Amino acid sequence: MRYHNPVLLQSACHFLAVKPGGHYVDCTLGGGGHTTEIIRLGGLVLGLDQDPEALQACPDLDGLTKVQANFIHLAEVVQTHNWQPVQGVLLDLGVSEHQINIPGRGFSFQLPGPLDMRMDPALPNTAGTLVNQLSANQLTSLFKDYGEIPVAKLLAAKIIAARPLTTTDQLASITGKWSRQAFQALRITVNDELGALAAVLPQAKEILAPEGRLVVISFHSLEDRLVKQTLKDMATLTPKPVIGEKGAKLRAYVKTFNHS
Ligand SMILES: C[S@@+](CC[C@H](N)C(=O)[O-])C[C@H]1O[C@@H](n2cnc3c(N)ncnc32)[C@H](O)[C@@H]1O
Repeated sequence: MRYHNPVLLQSACHFLAVKPGGHYVDCTLGGGGHTTEIIRLGGLVLGLDQDPEALQACPDLDGLTKVQANFIHLAEVVQTHNWQPVQGVLLDLGVSEHQINIPGRGFSFQLPGPLDMRMDPALPNTAGTLVNQLSANQLTSLFKDYGEIPVAKLLAAKIIAARPLTTTDQLASITGKWSRQAFQALRITVNDELGALAAVLPQAKEILAPEGRLVVISFHSLEDRLVKQTLKDMATLTPKPVIGEKGAKLRAYVKTFNHS
């Protein structure tokens, strides 16, 4: 089974404008789909992923340095690896197909597994911790804010009545037709995905060399909004986002000389 089918591969490399010998950071290495293409085009890649399984699955390529790290530490990792000047940074947000397809990771509402959903197995809270410990109000907000579920309050009440929950199928039998959104909301919370994105964007801007490129592929409107807001002072190469499979939206920016 393929680890992950990279989304918007050609567009991402086009907007990164990969230069032979240039330094790139792939903040979301996964199975290395985007990185492999950047290297084929002559770039050198510092590849980060918080999931140790991604680091193992990604091939060892000449020109690739793999680091197991959360991209909230981007600036520090770049400094430790003496990677500046950086010509391009890529963020391909969300989960990989591998993470979704392995039942033991607990990301899929369609596969039986434990309520885990941690991309980094060292993270403190699993989806199980959240569904079993959050209050009704907290669960309602989580489903409303991150899943845009209109029946959030009802789902929260049903979950609380059914506690303790330990498996994805137990949860999916409660969330029913809202399972996709409910699982997404839990995953975003378990991995603090919006917090991590808010933390990495200013660092990406900071570490880029003048004329360096930043490419972000996002999968839901909350991420896309945060990207647009945080990077509004950068020059955009995509006044309209490039749309890919699975609702992916690509936005690309360039650091012009008047940005510090
Ligand atoms: C959509 S996949 C990337 C797939 C990759 N572009 C490829 O072609 O295989 C997202 C990856 O980013 C990782 N990831 C998500 N959030 C992260 C974070 N805050 N820090 C580091 N890695 C993260 C996930 O573990 C996952 O492997």
